[in-house]
Amino acid sequence: MSEADRLDALLQETRSFPPPAYVRTGAIASDPGIYRRADLDPEGFWSEMGTALHWMRPWDRVLQWDPPHAQWFVGGELNVAENCVDRHCVGPRRNKAAIIWEGEPGDQRVITYGQLQRDVARAANALRRLGITKGDRVAIYMGMVPELAVAMLACTRIGAVHTVIFGGFSAEALRERINDARCRLVITQDGAWRRGRVVPLKQNVEEALLGAPSVEHTLVYRRVGAAAPQVALRGEVDWDEALAHESAVCPPEPMQAEDMLYILYTSGTTGKPKGIVHTTGGYLVGVATTHRLVFDLHDSDVYWCAADIGWVTGHSYIVYGPLANGATTVIYEGTPDFPERDRHWRIIERYGVNIYYTAPTTIRTFMRWGPQEPAKADLSSLRILGSVGEPINPEAWIWYHENIGKGRCAVVDTWWQTETGMIMITPLPGLTTTKPGSATHPFPGVAAAVLDEAGNLVGPGAGGNLVLTRPWPAMMRTIFNDDERFVRQYWSRYPGKYLTGDGARVDADGYFWLLGRVDDVMNVAGHRLSTYEIESALVDHPAVAEAAVIGRHDDLKGQAVAAFVTLKESASGDMGAELKAHVAVKIGPIARPDDIFFTAELPKTRSGKIMRRLLRDIAERRVLGDTTTLADPNVVAMLKQQYDGVEE
Ligand code: WT7
Repeated sequence: MSEADRLDALLQETRSFPPPAYVRTGAIASDPGIYRRADLDPEGFWSEMGTALHWMRPWDRVLQWDPPHAQWFVGGELNVAENCVDRHCVGPRRNKAAIIWEGEPGDQRVITYGQLQRDVARAANALRRLGITKGDRVAIYMGMVPELAVAMLACTRIGAVHTVIFGGFSAEALRERINDARCRLVITQDGAWRRGRVVPLKQNVEEALLGAPSVEHTLVYRRVGAAAPQVALRGEVDWDEALAHESAVCPPEPMQAEDMLYILYTSGTTGKPKGIVHTTGGYLVGVATTHRLVFDLHDSDVYWCAADIGWVTGHSYIVYGPLANGATTVIYEGTPDFPERDRHWRIIERYGVNIYYTAPTTIRTFMRWGPQEPAKADLSSLRILGSVGEPINPEAWIWYHENIGKGRCAVVDTWWQTETGMIMITPLPGLTTTKPGSATHPFPGVAAAVLDEAGNLVGPGAGGNLVLTRPWPAMMRTIFNDDERFVRQYWSRYPGKYLTGDGARVDADGYFWLLGRVDDVMNVAGHRLSTYEIESALVDHPAVAEAAVIGRHDDLKGQAVAAFVTLKESASGDMGAELKAHVAVKIGPIARPDDIFFTAELPKTRSGKIMRRLLRDIAERRVLGDTTTLADPNVVAMLKQQYDGVEE
């Protein structure tokens, strides 16, 4: 289906689903007046939400807004680890499961809030012993083990800033991020289980450290033992040994609401990843509030977000939001198809999961595997189903609703970004009538709009740029060491308004429909990649003269990476395979191009600009538009011939 056909199909979507009766009657957000109240007095609304946390010192002012720089809960002091762990240990939640963990090989652990408190305090003391103090940056490069959450919380306990690097990133990508943040410590593990094989995390760290002089120590958790390559790291300390020597008493550091909590790197429109900066008070209020209301979290619920903690979804909705709310959060180490394709459904059955949150690409994979897989397990505990990461096509939405939710569950399609920190456009399960494919409405207190190029509001049904028109507590504060880029990239297109980079439209009923990125950012299986980043990786190869990368439509992954490459004359051999491998080494396996096309020349305008739009048309087999502005129109005809010759 072409892009235009897909958008037409979306426009014709007329199905709608009112909140299931049993959710509606018992929902935490059950008063529709919440939207109006928050809209009339957003600061009052967030102030009320802020009181759900424990503050060591109350704030003087809810919001200080000097566009584009915001400060929330100014003057307030709090500690994130204390809010996520300690305060639950003084009441009936002390022996409640904080984390239910399942390893890929099948091992299981249940960690209560009381146990988590002791682990976090010990780990925090271990960090202090390694010389880490408030404001220092700590890189965390781990798999999905409870110790990853413990490491993050230990940093927040002493005021250190963590930067978690997704375990699927390569040594080079890791090194680049360690250096940008100038980390003094790397916390890692020997290896992680993934589809029955070991991801050699520690070995990658060894390689990354070759060019990372700021790192003084490494703290290494032993997960797979002899199955991992045995290497020794700079200033290495064993996690278990270090913790065993520490006391379980560690007073939490009082932090200013605006002190930095973490940096998370994400792809932008250039080759250099951006270090998105989130701060302490506003972020925690934002993620705790949205987690409670969007997922209608009740105290007895078992909640499972199946994302990776290495992405923002895991930061906000596996670790910080759920733990701030005293929830039971499930962490699963491995892939959904190990050992069988019913793994997720078995996990839901085993622990009685009530709330399940995943990505459209995963849902489409489940669709491909067939309804017989979820039918093997008892999914009757489920009440709320979430989706995040890319637009969910109505077909996948309906499949999710019917085959996983058995028609009984509320489906919440949640739109947000690394930069927004928290869910921004979303249904509320007890209040919103959903339309499959629409993320519905801005969360209470959030204001969004769709603008045309001139900055005017577009009418119902018309497409435009999605902007956020009011500050929100979990918003990014800056790009680490690059405030100028922060201002330019997000706040200069429409002054005073935050540019999301997404296209959207609002229908006649006021529902938001997300249409994907409008810039050079791709979304491949829910992972954000920049075209430029992959182009840089390709031209880094000695045989490549020039490269252009685009995201083409893919039924499963949303988008796939298509690369158009001009080789140097001297190149020979199977360059396709070699270049794919090269990109995987430079960035990580997630960035490996799906297609590589070789061409003597790239289609360029007479001023030398690569016509990415034309490449996208070619890759998606569309009728080509106007090519007369090209320096050499023949280039396109030749490329199109090559592409059309390939099986779909
Ligand atoms: C981009 C942000 C937010 C956590 C995961 C991704 C796309 C995200 C949706 C949705 C349509 C969505 C947008 C956004 N996106 N959720 N529900 N509907 N698009 O975080 O890597 O920062 O990517 O993901 O294009 O800009 P991220």
